[in-house]
Amino acid sequence: MSTEKTIKKVTTKALEVMKKRGEKIAALTAYDFITARILDAAGIDLLLVGDSLANVFQGNETTLPVTMDEMIYHTKAVTKGVNRAMVVVDMPFMSYQLSIKEGFRNAGRIMKETSAGAVKLEGGKRVAETIKELTDAGIPVMGHVGLTPQSINQFGSYRERGKSKEEAKEIFEDALAVEKAGAFALVLEKIPAVLANKITKALRIPTIGIGAGINCDGQILVTPDLLGLYVEFQPRFVRKYASLADEMDKSIHNYINDVKKKNFPSKAESY
Ligand code: KIV
Repeated sequence: MSTEKTIKKVTTKALEVMKKRGEKIAALTAYDFITARILDAAGIDLLLVGDSLANVFQGNETTLPVTMDEMIYHTKAVTKGVNRAMVVVDMPFMSYQLSIKEGFRNAGRIMKETSAGAVKLEGGKRVAETIKELTDAGIPVMGHVGLTPQSINQFGSYRERGKSKEEAKEIFEDALAVEKAGAFALVLEKIPAVLANKITKALRIPTIGIGAGINCDGQILVTPDLLGLYVEFQPRFVRKYASLADEMDKSIHNYINDVKKKNFPSKAESY
């Protein structure tokens, strides 16, 4: 694992160049120092401190309960583990919906207190004015349209969005509005691959898909899903690359067994 500080940082410009070159962007979520360090050293391009931490870290059913202070706490740990990747922070529910001024104040706090490179907020036309104000002030913003989990109480379920003609049109227009407002990238969540492809082709900025098909400019997954650590949630867009929950279970059973049977610590492990 490299800890050298000489590695070139991934910037918003670099992501734009990757799109132009057709080079795919690999993104994942991170909520802590150790994981961020491993993902960064492996060469991940973008790390999102997602508000999914409300689910996978805090055990909540939705992303709504996580607070500004908690997002800042986790981001500070993540940025300490990162040399190269761009770190983007989710603005939590109700940190930007109240007013543009409130969104401004909270995005400013994230940028001042965490060393992150950008913020992400959910919504299209509805938040375009906020995105414009933030980018005008020098705060890079990533958009997020399609299934936007902060609106779960409005949607009523986590089903795929954009299946009907009307909803697809709405999402397409939202994507255009986010780009026009100045966002540097856009997350497309759980929408038909055909719609994601159409949006990706229409936009200058890169699209990062999650359950949005192969043609997005990049892909993102929630890291504990990919590692098989968070087994409660298994939608079909998650590819499990490991079964770490099983590995942990085995290791912990072995440890308990060794302690109970007086096999740990050995002489070599003692002073
Ligand atoms: O919070 C999160 O992890 C996200 C990703 C699913 C894109 O928003």
